[in-house]
Amino acid sequence: MWKKWFGKSSDVFHTPGLNLIKRESVPRHIAIIMDGNGRWAQRKGLLRTFGHRAGVESLRDIVKAASELGVKVLTAYAFSTENWKRPDEEVNFLMSLFSEYLDSEIDELHQNDVQIKFIGKIDELAVTLQHKIENAQARTLHNGGLILNLAVNYGGRAEITRAVQIITEKVATGALKPEEITDNTIQDHLYTAALPDPDLLIRPSGDLRISNFLLWQSAYAEFWFTDINWPDFKPKHLIQAIIDYQKRDRRFGGVNKDGAHRFK
Ligand code: IPE
Ligand code: IPE
Ligand code: MG
Repeated sequence: MWKKWFGKSSDVFHTPGLNLIKRESVPRHIAIIMDGNGRWAQRKGLLRTFGHRAGVESLRDIVKAASELGVKVLTAYAFSTENWKRPDEEVNFLMSLFSEYLDSEIDELHQNDVQIKFIGKIDELAVTLQHKIENAQARTLHNGGLILNLAVNYGGRAEITRAVQIITEKVATGALKPEEITDNTIQDHLYTAALPDPDLLIRPSGDLRISNFLLWQSAYAEFWFTDINWPDFKPKHLIQAIIDYQKRDRRFGGVNKDGAHRFK
């Protein structure tokens, strides 16, 4: 049985294609760059802010759908360390939207066993928003369902730089020797330390780039791009991405079964 959302379910169970998903190989971790809000609004002759609001609706639905499909971790890129370059009004609008999202969603997410985590430079956000984030994280800390990782003021380079700073401090105090540093040491000092790497990375809106998202963690992620803007992204697109993902041959630098066979 798929896991039903408590409350109004996503339309994932009424979506053609659901039966094509192999239950045993649903990606454990899906990462999404929630892009295209501005273009979605502009195409409709609306202000970009309408696009951001519509984008929140998509997130709400995709969180439910991912949880119902048994995805373990969903990381959603909401605001990058570079997005401060945008006009103040847009930045302020986005910040109040994050705050509103937490206020309106926390109860339902908690009821559905979702664990909320934030990744990024949270200490640079407004203090009131920081408190809401801390409360949401603390309240849902022991939930065992979907881990919803929200990347706010997140940058992959900043994350790796931070890890290097922490590690070099340990070296300076003698707690760690340089030769003891391995891939795992770096991994353990990222925001995503305890989480599996993303299996599937989705970017809507037609741009074919990573925009400083999960640089270390995406080393072997499968990429899935679509021209659809984030506000139009529905559970049916998530299902399609998973179906396509399940057809990929993930080799991690090795050879697949057929390839191995040829050299025997
Ligand atoms: C993504 O949509 C949301 C954020 C980056 C905060 P955009 O605002 O980047 O939308 P486009 O890419 O301009 O269409
Ligand atoms: C990436 O989108 C960041 C988020 C979706 C939060 P951008 O819109 O900021 O990326 P670029 O500028 O097109 O690379
Ligand atoms: Mg964009």
